[in-house]
Amino acid sequence: MDTKKLAERLAEAGQSHILQFWDQLSPEEQAEMSLDLKNMNFIEINNFFKNAMKISGQSSQEKVDSRMEPVPREVLGSVTRDSGCLKEWEKEGLRCISENKVAVLLLAGGQGTRLGVPYPKGMYDVGLPSHKTLFQIQAERIRRLEQLAEKLHAKKCCIPWYIMTSGRTMDMTKEFFLQHKYFGLKKENVLFFQQGMLPAMDFNGKIILEGKGKLAMAPDGNGGLYRALGTQKIIDDMKKRGISCIHVYCVDNILVKVADPAFIGFCSLKGADCGAKVVEKTNPTEAVGVVCKVDGRYQVVEYSEITLATAEKRSLDGRLMFNAGNIANHFFTLEFLSEIVRTYEPQLQHHVAQKKIPYVNTQGQLIKPDKPNGIKMEKFVFDIFQFAKKFVVYEVLREDEFSPLKNADSQDGKDNPTTARHSLMSLHHRWILNAGGNFVDENGTHIPAIPSLKDGTDLPIKCEICPLVSYGGEGLEHLVSGRAFQPNLMIDESGVHELVKNGL
Ligand code: UD1
Repeated sequence: MDTKKLAERLAEAGQSHILQFWDQLSPEEQAEMSLDLKNMNFIEINNFFKNAMKISGQSSQEKVDSRMEPVPREVLGSVTRDSGCLKEWEKEGLRCISENKVAVLLLAGGQGTRLGVPYPKGMYDVGLPSHKTLFQIQAERIRRLEQLAEKLHAKKCCIPWYIMTSGRTMDMTKEFFLQHKYFGLKKENVLFFQQGMLPAMDFNGKIILEGKGKLAMAPDGNGGLYRALGTQKIIDDMKKRGISCIHVYCVDNILVKVADPAFIGFCSLKGADCGAKVVEKTNPTEAVGVVCKVDGRYQVVEYSEITLATAEKRSLDGRLMFNAGNIANHFFTLEFLSEIVRTYEPQLQHHVAQKKIPYVNTQGQLIKPDKPNGIKMEKFVFDIFQFAKKFVVYEVLREDEFSPLKNADSQDGKDNPTTARHSLMSLHHRWILNAGGNFVDENGTHIPAIPSLKDGTDLPIKCEICPLVSYGGEGLEHLVSGRAFQPNLMIDESGVHELVKNGL
């Protein structure tokens, strides 16, 4: 690329400092840097910065807080309060799946900073007896659902899986799927696409250099989805396949019901173009966003953007007033998504996160700051709720559907590999009890249904059910009813295995 032209473009945008070490770079480094900068629109980036700073200054927490209202009862469906409708919702969802109208879309472009592993989070093994990764668990749930819909409607069907990655996670994610033969899914139905990246900026709007020839870049937030859906022609692919609705979800929830037929059926039967799955937030300081209305429009107020005073507010029944905890599971019709990509995406504002961003100083030394020195700009996936014509909220049980993997085990004991593993095994334990099975100890004594934790590090009852055998607890009676098992039980396609008895 013509260096003079590049320098002019940067000068025009007030970002000339980016080239301050140019003469010290090797020809290869210069070529690499030119390539990185070639497609960047610096004027647009400056505008993102200006708008993001303006909005984050304007909508100070207090102001948003005072305009928040809880979700009204009429848009709410609940697996407990409306349990009588569940069968009908599920039936409708399975019908949509059987007609090849449902796709799932995984947001997997995050950097997993808190978990602290150098590979994409979906490749993480939380230490289940099977050692399956999050990706494998999700893939097998998709396969099982396809089978359930096929059986019910006696026709072949497929749920395409769109996986959004970022510049940082794309290659490893693709390689992992290839290595594992797409976990039994057809390669052509697993589609990867890449979200955009944005440079980190200092508080004066100058792009930060993390090396002499390298900008500090980060993915543009999970709301980068909407731009990517257009630029990567994903909407076109969905249209070609005849998709009519999409379940969008985050990679880190080990209990995620991918393409949950009841959720899809609920949203479809309500005629919604947009829906959010929530669990009841019971602890004011839990790090989940809350679904609510602000100025009469639906939105999620993120945990980083709500004040403690508002988070602690309670209704007359004693529950938290803002208790619709966002678990990052969303329903969109394709029509709605297309409209977002076509019309509304540019209106979505970036949120600002102040961060400690390593940078090179004017002497070219790498400095690791101990307090925030700049911002990252991110769009959020739920910021399109405001454009919905008909928005609904679907409340599910936390113990059945939400156990995210955010932190490493050594941290505060919350949302980590151990809690994720516990949640899944505890759910599977309950499935076995509900299907008429039981657990006994090595002396044959019945183990109570609510086991006590032995040492706080693992569950006393280890049991795991392969998603290919059961998606949501169904189809287990013939395997377990009337039988007593010793803990360390594994049920997979080849049958029921008591790992301890067999010395495994
Ligand atoms: C997210 C939700 C929060 C919710 C919580 C539940 C958002 C913005 N916030 O918070 O409201 O209560 O999950 O667990 O959705 N990702 C990308 N690209 C990016 C950044 C993230 O694809 O640029 C993906 C991640 O891979 C992950 C998901 O988005 O699958 C959520 O990202 P994360 O940063 O973990 O969100 P939280 O802050 O935990």
